[in-house]
Amino acid sequence: MRRVRFLTKVVVLVLIVSSCEYNVENEDIVIGDCETVISYSSEIRPLIDTNCMPCHNGDGNTPFAPDLTTYALVESIAGLIKDVTQSGRMPKEGSLTTAEIEAIKCWVDNNALNN
Ligand code: HEC
Repeated sequence: MRRVRFLTKVVVLVLIVSSCEYNVENEDIVIGDCETVISYSSEIRPLIDTNCMPCHNGDGNTPFAPDLTTYALVESIAGLIKDVTQSGRMPKEGSLTTAEIEAIKCWVDNNALNN
């Protein structure tokens, strides 16, 4: 009887450990989609300043264009910014490179950090 209990414990432990490993591998795959960490201050902010500020500077001259002058404002609609750049709806004038569009996507997918 003791032996059976011991064996049961071993089996349960092996199952727990292997299921943990499985999860870790899965997370790696998700992160692998955007391997490089994108920095808000050195990549996203300059990109917005150059390509979006003509209209999104909050001066009221471009009605309905959400103010993107601060990190808090950008972060509050990060998902929307990803969507409109993925679809090519924004920038309304000018264009982004494929790398810039991808950088925005990765930054948003990695929780739009103030990094
Ligand atoms: C030439 C002016 C102009 C430029 C440049 C521009 N936008 Fe816009 N944007 C607008 C206007 C005007 C709107 C209001 C909605 C519309 O007209 O489509 C808008 C709306 C948006 C919205 C809200 C979308 C919605 O569904 O309400 C987001 C997000 C956005 N812009 C992001 C950006 C980003 C990010 C950039 C830079 C990569 C950018 N825009 C560049 C003019 C501009």
